[in-house]
Amino acid sequence: MPDYDFTTLVDRSGMSSAKWNAMRRANPEVPPGIAPFSVADLDLPHPPEIIDGLKAFIEETPLGYTAPSAAFTNAVTGWMQRRHGWTVDADWLVQTPGVVPALFTAVRAFSEPGDGVIVQTPAYHPFYLAIEKNRRRVVRNPLRLDEGRFTIDFGQLERLAAEPANKLLLFCSPHNPTGRVWTPDELRRLAEIVIAHDLVLVSDEIHFDLVLPGHRHTVMSTLGAEIAARTLVCTAPSKTFNLAGLGASNIVISDPELRRRFTAERDATGFFFLTAPAYKGCELAYTKGEAWLDGLLGLIDRNHRLTRRFMADHLPQVTVFDLEGTYLQWMDFRGLGLGAPELRAIHQREALVFFEEGTTFGEEGAGFERMNIAAPTAAVEAALERLARAHRR
Ligand SMILES: Cc1ncc(COP(=O)(O)O)c(C=O)c1O
Repeated sequence: MPDYDFTTLVDRSGMSSAKWNAMRRANPEVPPGIAPFSVADLDLPHPPEIIDGLKAFIEETPLGYTAPSAAFTNAVTGWMQRRHGWTVDADWLVQTPGVVPALFTAVRAFSEPGDGVIVQTPAYHPFYLAIEKNRRRVVRNPLRLDEGRFTIDFGQLERLAAEPANKLLLFCSPHNPTGRVWTPDELRRLAEIVIAHDLVLVSDEIHFDLVLPGHRHTVMSTLGAEIAARTLVCTAPSKTFNLAGLGASNIVISDPELRRRFTAERDATGFFFLTAPAYKGCELAYTKGEAWLDGLLGLIDRNHRLTRRFMADHLPQVTVFDLEGTYLQWMDFRGLGLGAPELRAIHQREALVFFEEGTTFGEEGAGFERMNIAAPTAAVEAALERLARAHRR
């Protein structure tokens, strides 16, 4: 593997990074050198193959209106085949400038105002926004915490799916924020319920490349023709390769009628195609990014093991969940017996650690924190040390 740099912390102060700006808003006194661990993007040097390719592209190519090229389409379908064992027809791909816009579009395309949309909670917060801002109802199916592992409450899901007003299931796989990679058995049970109750399934698989050793991601639509026919699989190179700012997502919809309805709703927003650098960045990521990704996965695994060990030794009242996928470490701080304002003050004022607070993901997240651990190991270690010191005081 080339010698990629996973040790330099890119200080994004002054670069209009949403995450770094939010840290400074939370505590304007934060000194230089402190990194935030909240929003799911990376403060690491980019994969050089993508940046070099984009630079060459911009130097050579007018940035006019651009359609998806065969090279782009082949890169996407090739990635799905190689990394996920998933045969995707080029016709199934629909582009959106992000997965979040696709969630909003799907809610409008497959439900009516007032309908119920089921989500497993805690949930990635734009799931709630996609439902509420479109005047649909959030129907919560809280995950269960069984012996330290989050699982789906299938009994309740079955009951909720049986209610005729509930039309759609927004599902996150791998799951943000709990870090679960759902097993084929879990996915099959979920698929059976979706099919039995005639739901449309939006499977947000944006984290599908980010799976830790010992686990395997299963793309929902690979489970069979019947579930594929009612599923939209949301994919993107944005989490995997830190390209969220480019705005390129591929929504894979094999059923022609489902695809027609989704595309019509997307087109009704006036959005028809991605930018030229977005297509190119996605193509470069999926054709040249594989070795870099393997390095990133090694970093996430090391940082996860470090976090577990460190917290067990220094803050054993905090539960660090097994991270199966994503780079988002979910932790339960309830054992410390602190209220939200106290916890926030200790973290943001004393420890200078800036996590995504658990309640961002819904009421089920109270007392939890989510830490983005895809950062240089030294930065993660320093943050954990500050955290332990602040809690000892
Ligand atoms: C589950 C999930 N979906 C979607 C997104 C973001 O999607 P996008 O930036 O492509 O709109 C994220 C980002 O963290 C996410 O975790």
